[in-house]
Formats: sequence, structure tokens, C-alpha cells
Amino acid sequence: MKVMVTGARGQLGQDVVKELTRLGITPLPVDVEDFDLTDPQAVERAVAEAAPDAIIHCAAYTAVDKAETEPARCCEINGGGTLNLARAAQKIKAKLCYISTDYVFSGEGETPFEPDDPKRPQNVYGLSKLQGEEAVQGTLTRFFIVRTAWVFGLNGANFVRTMLRLGQERHSVRVVCDQIGSPTYTVDLAAFFCQLIQTDRYGAYHATNEGFCAWSDFAAEIFRQAKLSCRAEPIPSSEYPTPAKRPKNSRLSKDCLDQNGFPRLPAWQDALARYLAEMRQAGQL
Ligand SMILES: NC(=O)c1ccc[n+]([C@@H]2O[C@H](COP(=O)([O-])OP(=O)(O)OC[C@H]3O[C@@H](n4cnc5c(N)ncnc54)[C@H](OP(=O)(O)O)[C@@H]3O)[C@@H](O)[C@H]2O)c1
Repeated sequence: MKVMVTGARGQLGQDVVKELTRLGITPLPVDVEDFDLTDPQAVERAVAEAAPDAIIHCAAYTAVDKAETEPARCCEINGGGTLNLARAAQKIKAKLCYISTDYVFSGEGETPFEPDDPKRPQNVYGLSKLQGEEAVQGTLTRFFIVRTAWVFGLNGANFVRTMLRLGQERHSVRVVCDQIGSPTYTVDLAAFFCQLIQTDRYGAYHATNEGFCAWSDFAAEIFRQAKLSCRAEPIPSSEYPTPAKRPKNSRLSKDCLDQNGFPRLPAWQDALARYLAEMRQAGQL
């Protein structure tokens, strides 16, 4: 099996390529220097030449706050770029796994969102990722949409890295306590994608590490596990304004994994411990 990975230099893409290799599946890593997703001819040519059996589409415009001031570019990449890729996949009958986000939902309420719940994105990035979902659903029959959230991995800027830095510099850090979600390790996500694409259990999924917490709980656990004496001071979102509105409820229901015979991902605290160990081993901690 040959699997193309878009965004292969990104935080998630790098671990997907690593996992495919570990499983003995041939990875075909591509990133923006190979072709730009917004160029339909380049996308079609590259996909036809590589002739993958499946594509794991990790590439995206991911600057959530910046997207508010350049909505056209964000939607061109996440919506239009995904449509180009879906059309190219359809031409060669490749499966496509599209990585999406909890930001496609309204972020209201306190119960976990199910995959088929109504979509009502609250910011430009969420809207653009929903456009990507619609492009995939409208073009392909053999597709997976996997929504995830609060991702951290060795190869990216992420919340854990920021807290480790601040935790060394300060005695306390103010962190929002009214946005609830599930921290998710790229290594665990990558393992799930690689399992999923080997099946024909198509459709929309949610995949995050198990358990829900607030960002302030996550920060406190990072400080505890990294043995930093810094304190996470809980604050409401109203005291931490950002250009893009963030959902208060990022809880995603993972019943879809049980129903389709996939194991759940490990607890987020366990994922964090393995991530810190990986950082130590890589000399990053
Ligand atoms: N990070 C999270 O918390 C989170 C949560 C939910 C869902 N997701 C989704 O998970 C996926 C992976 O996220 P990530 O954190 O790994 O993001 P990332 O580190 O920003 O990686 C995205 C990759 O896509 C590439 N890319 C951007 N524009 C492109 C274009 N026009 N053509 C081709 N490649 C392009 C980027 O290249 P450049 O760096 O050169 O721009 C980068 O290598 C994304 O689909 C994201 O929407 C992420």
C-alpha cells in the first residue's frame, strides 16, 4: 500500500509519515514545496504520478487568529485546496482521509458533539475546515473525515511547549478555565489514521485522547509532570481576548470509534507523559 501524506513537514504530518514507515506501508510525503494545494493542475499531476492507494490530508492553513484578517487565503487553502485534492483522488480512485477540527461546531453546550451534529463554525478557520469537509463529502465516496482538537507533537509549536517555556520563566501563568476539550498527541492520532485507512469503514469520526479538561487543568498537569513549580492561575476567556473566537465546548464524542470497532486513544495524561519522554529523548527538554 502507498499512502500520500500532505503537510508532511507539519506537526502531525511528520508523525504520520513515521508511523506508516513503522508499519511497513510506503509513505509518499509531500508539502508545499512539492505542490501548492491551491493549484489544481499541479495537484492533479502530482497525485496521478504518485498513484497512491490512499491520501492522508494533513496540510492546512492553521494560523487560527491570522485567518480572521486573511479569510480568502485561509478558505482558498482549506476549502479550495481540499477540493482540488479530493478531485485528484477521485480520478485515480484513491481513498482520502481529511483531518478536521472541533471548530466546525458551535462550541455551545456542555455535551460532547457527535459526528453528525449540526455544524456552525464560529471563526474563519472553522468555516474553512468545514468547506474542506464539504468538498470531500461532495466529491468522494471512499473518504474518512477525522475531527480532532488541541494537538501537540514533537515537531510543532503547541500549548505544551508554550507552558514549558513560561513555566521556567514565571511563578504563575494565567490560563483560561472555561474552554473544555481533550489534549491530543500526534503519535496516537497518527496510529489511528494508519489503522483507519487500511479499512473501508468510511465516514466521519472524532479522534482525541480520552478525557476532558480545561486549558488551565492541562497547564497544571504539564507543570506537575515536568516538575516545574509554576502555578496555573485559572481565568475566564473574557480576560484572554483573541482575534478568533474560541469554542467553550470542544468536547467530541468518541462513540463512533466503539461503533466501528476501533480502540479509543489513551488518556490525555498518559499521552502527555509519553510526549515529555519523547521531548527528553530528543534533547528538547
Ligand atoms: N494543531 C491543532 O491543534 C489541530 C486541531 C484540530 C485539527 N488540526 C488539523 O490537523 C492538521 C495538521 O495540523 P498541524 O498542527 O500538523 O499543522 P501544521 O504544523 O501547520 O502543518 C500544516 C502543513 O501544511 C502545509 N501547507 C500549508 N499551506 C499549504 C498549501 N497551500 N499547499 C500545501 N501545503 C500547505 C504547511 O506548510 P507551511 O508550514 O510551509 O505553511 C505545513 O507543513 C490540519 O489539517 C489542521 O487543520 C490541527
